[in-house]
Amino acid sequence: MALADHVKSGFANLQQNCFHQHTIHVGHRFLITGGAGFIGSHTALGLMEQGHSLVILDNFDNSSPDALLRVEELANGSGSLELVEGDVRDADAMERAFQSNGPIDGVIHFAGLKAVGESVRDPLRYWDVNVNGSRVLAAAMERHGCKTLVFSSTSTVYGEPEIFPLREQTPTAPIHPYAQTKLAVEQMLSALGRNGAWRIASLRYFNPVGAHPSGRIGEDPLGIPNNLFPFITQVAAGRRDQLQIFGNDYPTPDGTGIRDYLHVMDLAEAHGMTLDHLLKQAGPTTLTLNIGTGHGLSVLEVVHGFERATGITIPYKVVPRRPGDVPKLEACPLKAKDTLGWTATRTLDDMCRDGWAWQQANPMGYRGE
Ligand code: NAD
Ligand code: UFG
Repeated sequence: MALADHVKSGFANLQQNCFHQHTIHVGHRFLITGGAGFIGSHTALGLMEQGHSLVILDNFDNSSPDALLRVEELANGSGSLELVEGDVRDADAMERAFQSNGPIDGVIHFAGLKAVGESVRDPLRYWDVNVNGSRVLAAAMERHGCKTLVFSSTSTVYGEPEIFPLREQTPTAPIHPYAQTKLAVEQMLSALGRNGAWRIASLRYFNPVGAHPSGRIGEDPLGIPNNLFPFITQVAAGRRDQLQIFGNDYPTPDGTGIRDYLHVMDLAEAHGMTLDHLLKQAGPTTLTLNIGTGHGLSVLEVVHGFERATGITIPYKVVPRRPGDVPKLEACPLKAKDTLGWTATRTLDDMCRDGWAWQQANPMGYRGE
């Protein structure tokens, strides 16, 4: 479906290229599943700015076609974007994605479900979308001889670790169905990698936040946000009265949970660099990389950082712990640095400023237009 079919209005002609330039070769053709989502839209923009042609497969289960229109607008004529609206579990839709306008050089697989609590309530749906969807994708890749894949995994595969730093070889011990499904896909992909000329990277993201500095694309959670950062920006915008802090009795210096927050633009860049790395490998490759800053922050440190960056006070109250939360997750990102040359460069200030700019410009997310 042409993106123009979704066009409802014209756009301001913004000319911003905020991605740091890397060495990826121009002119590849990539399939991006879930490319309309939070991380997918930022990654798609970065790849288009580098001149690549993208096929995006998304069913808009948790996103809006408007995100892709804005990606096109920001790319400002660089690269190209073609949309296949469909479900990753649907082999026919997948076939359409592979048959559109020429061979696919590589795939980034973002499409999936990511809400921990929902995965506990409805595990079968998570196994179906996350695992079966990945199986349908891998089967189509095999059929089409496309064997270069970047997979969105998660730091939650480490479960409730007690020993830091968390390296990729740290034993995995997922404690909820969401993380179990992501680990299952990692395992499925490494089995596949042992059987042929696959080049596969599973990226274990820590906590991506913030938005593109233009304020045109960002995170757009449906309903009440599950995650800390969009909740804070909605409190700042007056959409919610106060933040609830889930527990201040964790074994951490201030008692609140610690996570490794990274700017979504840094995460987007990691994908371009991973594709670049995989495409340069002559032989079979199976890679697992932590993608984080290596510096954990507590909930209170994020709240106060946001207040400093924006000048807005965030009212909060401490409530009991949220089931399934762990005290601390913090990456050791050295393998990503050694393998890709990637490190996160943006600060908490950048994350707060850019996330707040997006929230202010789009108080109701993409649904405001
Ligand atoms: P998102 O929900 O914003 O993006 C996911 C995209 O996939 C959406 O556009 C959604 O419509 C699409 N999608 C969902 N189910 C689909 C299906 N069956 N068929 C086709 N498209 C489908 O999420 P995100 O934050 O951008 O996350 C992207 C990936 O990264 C997910 O796989 C998620 O599990 C993983 N991840 C996210 C985080 C995070 O904190 N955001 C952390 C670790 C891993
Ligand atoms: N928190 C609050 N109040 C809120 C929301 C969160 O105090 O309203 C706290 C949590 O207890 C936790 C921290 O803020 O200590 C971060 O919570 P998030 O929900 O923002 O992030 P999680 O680490 O729980 O999980 C997120 C995504 C997962 C992903 C994971 C990767 O939801 O999909 O990051 O680390 F896998």
